[in-house]
Amino acid sequence: MSTHGRVLVLGASGYVGSRLVVRLLSRGWRVRAAGRSLKKLQDRPWSRHPSVELVSTDVLNREALRKTSTDCSAAYYLVHSLESAGGNYAEADRQAARNMIEAAGHSGLERIIYLGGLGEDPEHLSQHLRSRAEVGHILGAGQVPVTTLRAAMIIGSGSISFEIVRYLMDRLPVMITPRWLETLSQPIAIRNVLEYLQGCLENPATAGQTYDIGGPDTVSYRGLLRVYEEEARLRHRWIVKVPVLTPRLSAYWIDLVTPISASIAFPLAEGLRNEMVCLDHRIREEIPLDLIDCRQAIRLALDEGQYALWKDRSRREGPSPPAEWIYPGDPSWAGGDKRRRLDRWLHSQNSG
Ligand SMILES: NC(=O)c1ccc[n+]([C@@H]2O[C@H](COP(=O)([O-])OP(=O)(O)OC[C@H]3O[C@@H](n4cnc5c(N)ncnc54)[C@H](OP(=O)(O)O)[C@@H]3O)[C@@H](O)[C@H]2O)c1
Repeated sequence: MSTHGRVLVLGASGYVGSRLVVRLLSRGWRVRAAGRSLKKLQDRPWSRHPSVELVSTDVLNREALRKTSTDCSAAYYLVHSLESAGGNYAEADRQAARNMIEAAGHSGLERIIYLGGLGEDPEHLSQHLRSRAEVGHILGAGQVPVTTLRAAMIIGSGSISFEIVRYLMDRLPVMITPRWLETLSQPIAIRNVLEYLQGCLENPATAGQTYDIGGPDTVSYRGLLRVYEEEARLRHRWIVKVPVLTPRLSAYWIDLVTPISASIAFPLAEGLRNEMVCLDHRIREEIPLDLIDCRQAIRLALDEGQYALWKDRSRREGPSPPAEWIYPGDPSWAGGDKRRRLDRWLHSQNSG
């Protein structure tokens, strides 16, 4: 496969997809960036890059997806329906995955690369994680080789799971948590996720394989909250475990305290009971990387000082910030309270 072929990024308006486009462009790939809303794609900093083509497509529309996939050598599948389909997301994601393999078979795609969630045992997985695994299985049953990467929480500004942690910790002196506090997880820095995604495209040996991807540390959610507290230089947070707090109540609580709605928080809160740890480490041999530890990943995401400096220089140095910061076009909740205040202040300085 030529390193200058055209690659389709489905979900290019989303958190991972929008950052992946930057990385692919820097490697010389031509990119077809697809999402449902052209406006959202146009808000991204790479929208006018000469090697980018913007395409509005809905993966639930089979014909549109087939057209969108034509003339591309590979496709990234970075789509989920949590926001768009509400409670029916599992069925929508099933249908979308079926459409994808059908479109791939007709359009001459040579590869699909899918990023899903860690966790295998369907009986014990939350509905959301089960649905992510199911999408991987549906895609894998098609004719075109699929590489599936499975990840736990991605650490970076704009990643919804990280933003929930940030808002809860920043806003509440006392955290009331359910039993999941001791569940183990292996979070991964967004930079490493992008390196793996790009590495898979450029390494044909990864075609048709499923890999677990994670950072170097396995931590409990309690441990993660403590690292966040230290890196964000917060006063000590009291973390109180309440065994009767159900995922639904947790979701309402998140809705009340943070800008993230209960309908998105619920599937994520439900998944917190599932251990998300890599069981297979083959990816480290296929794509050797310097893995960023959990503390460093959080530090990179929170680097307000560097962010302000970058904002100041960005007109000269190009429009795309590092992957771990908020990005032009990210949802309004991305970046937390401090970042939003900083943006308002920088805006008032520039317009004053
Ligand atoms: N963020 C994490 O912590 C994390 C962790 C592990 C795995 N992952 C996986 O990474 C992948 C990407 O996640 P993300 O965090 O980047 O999600 P995200 O920011 O919510 O982006 C989701 C993308 O899906 C697109 N989409 C939804 N429904 C669509 C449809 N019917 N047709 C076309 N596009 C549609 C959205 O486009 P619109 O702009 O049109 O809505 C958006 O671009 C997912 O598979 C997720 O499970 C994420």
